[in-house]
Amino acid sequence: MERGARSGRRRVLLAALALWAAMPWAACVCWEAIPADGPVVDGVEVPDAPAPSAGGLLALTFDDGPRRSTTTALLDGLAERGIHATFFLIGRQIPNNMDLVRRMDEEGHQIGIHTYDHTQLTGLNREDFAAQVDRTRTLLQDTLGHNHFLLRPPYGAVDPGVRAMAGCPIVLWSIDPEDWDDKDPARIVDHIVDNAKDGDIILLHDIYPTSVEAALQAADRLRRRGFYFVTVEELFAARHIPLEDGHCYRTAYP
Ligand code: NI
Repeated sequence: MERGARSGRRRVLLAALALWAAMPWAACVCWEAIPADGPVVDGVEVPDAPAPSAGGLLALTFDDGPRRSTTTALLDGLAERGIHATFFLIGRQIPNNMDLVRRMDEEGHQIGIHTYDHTQLTGLNREDFAAQVDRTRTLLQDTLGHNHFLLRPPYGAVDPGVRAMAGCPIVLWSIDPEDWDDKDPARIVDHIVDNAKDGDIILLHDIYPTSVEAALQAADRLRRRGFYFVTVEELFAARHIPLEDGHCYRTAYP
C-alpha cells in the first residue's frame, strides 16, 4: 500500500476517533456489534461483573518480540477481532522475522523500538545508545521503508541522557499485569480488566503463549464493556496530546 494513501487513511481514522471520543454516547457504540462470549451457566449467559468504569480508549502494547510462534498467534487473534496494537521490538530478533514485522505494519499495528538486545539505556554513552536504539531504528527503516517509530526503554528506565538521545517520543505504560511472572492467563486477564480506565496503556509481552491468550481474552471482555482498542499514536491523537521527541508518556486520560 502506498504510504500517502496510508497516511490519508490514518488522518481520516484519527479524525473519526477524536469525534467518537468526544461523544457522550461513545461508550455504547460498539456494544451491539461485539458477539457475547461470556461464561454460560445452565444455558444462560452470565454477564461480567460491573466494571469500575465502562467505555473509552485503550492501547494494548507488546514488548520483547517478535517471536515467530507467539507473535503469529497474537497477530491472527488481533486480525480476527479487528484490533490494532503497538509492538516494541527487539532489534536482534528482526532479521529472522522480517515477514512478521511487515505484517504488523501492513495490518495497521504501530511499531516501536525496544533496543537491539534488551539493554537498559540509562547511563549509556552516545555510541552505546546508538548501538541499541539507532541500530534497531535503521533495521526497521530498511524493513518497512519508513521512519516512524516510538521508543520504549527496557524496564521503563529513563534518565536525562535517554530523553536527549531518544530521537522520538518515549512511551511507558499505566497497567502492568506482570505477565512474565506466574504466566497465569486468568490472573493476568483479571488484573487488566479490573484496572482498565479510559486512556490506559497496557503492558504485555508477546513472547509467552499465556500472554497472547490473556491479551485476547482481556480484549474480548473489555470490548463487551464498551472499550475500543487503538494504537498508542491513535490514543494520543484522539486526546489532542501531541507526542514530542524525548518526552515520556504513560497515559492519555481524558
Ligand atoms: Ni522488555
